[in-house]
Amino acid sequence: MTADLFNAAAMYDEDYLHFFSAPDAGGAPTHGPVVGTAYTGTSAADVVWRLLDLEPGMRVLDLACGHGVLANELAARGCRVTGLDSSAVFLDRARGDAAAMAVDVEYVAGDMRELPPWVARFDRVVNWTTAFGYFDDATNRGVLREIARLLRPGGRLAMDLDNLPKFLMSYTPSRITARLDNGDLLADRHHLDPLTARFEVERTVVRDGRARKLTFVKRLFAFPELRDWCAASGFTDVAGYGEDGEPLRSDHDRMVVVAECA
Ligand SMILES: C[S@@+](CC[C@H](N)C(=O)[O-])C[C@H]1O[C@@H](n2cnc3c(N)ncnc32)[C@H](O)[C@@H]1O
Repeated sequence: MTADLFNAAAMYDEDYLHFFSAPDAGGAPTHGPVVGTAYTGTSAADVVWRLLDLEPGMRVLDLACGHGVLANELAARGCRVTGLDSSAVFLDRARGDAAAMAVDVEYVAGDMRELPPWVARFDRVVNWTTAFGYFDDATNRGVLREIARLLRPGGRLAMDLDNLPKFLMSYTPSRITARLDNGDLLADRHHLDPLTARFEVERTVVRDGRARKLTFVKRLFAFPELRDWCAASGFTDVAGYGEDGEPLRSDHDRMVVVAECA
């Protein structure tokens, strides 16, 4: 496994849930310069349901499922859902929410770079809210091959990522990404490296009067580049949509890439 570009455990922790799953936090962990409308849970499930032709009983993997908002919603709609994530804190929250919703989801701790020895186990894979592109490019491409291994032939993948044209139009060198009523806040400084297409963020987390810093990185993709990566990883019929499920346009906040496993 290659060296990490950032410490995911420091990023996806209890502080993250404090800001992005609190009722007054707006709900959507966009954490780029684009602050879109809330786009998890029901609205995301509606789009996924339509774009992936989901049906009750289908086996769905939510890869990098976070605290399970989409996984739990798809399970509530009758899918047989597995959620995999590397964050124990997020998985605990996901399991608790699933129990409260009385839905059955298999939550698994894991790393998307080396997925369990599942072969053709799933009808669908979802990967939501910019949960792809955290590694060097060879490793990012390896994640796509891992996804193809888990899907049955004809199975389909949907990935929700930043939409590059809108992202760049909205770029700012810094911003306050979240501010809660009690004064807790996230302040981000941004750096965009055109040679790697990596968006690098230095974040200051201010909570209960104490500050700590962390960094994280994500790869930005124009649709044609990710389409070609998918095609090279065993997918066909790669298509791009916006957050409303319509064909991708520059003014969409989000890019939803849908691909079929050969
Ligand atoms: C931006 S969050 C998105 C979470 C969720 N999909 C959602 O829509 O809310 C990215 C997720 O990727 C997970 N993650 C980061 N690195 C990972 C890895 N190597 N393997 C599996 N999950 C990882 C994080 O723990 C986090 O839950």
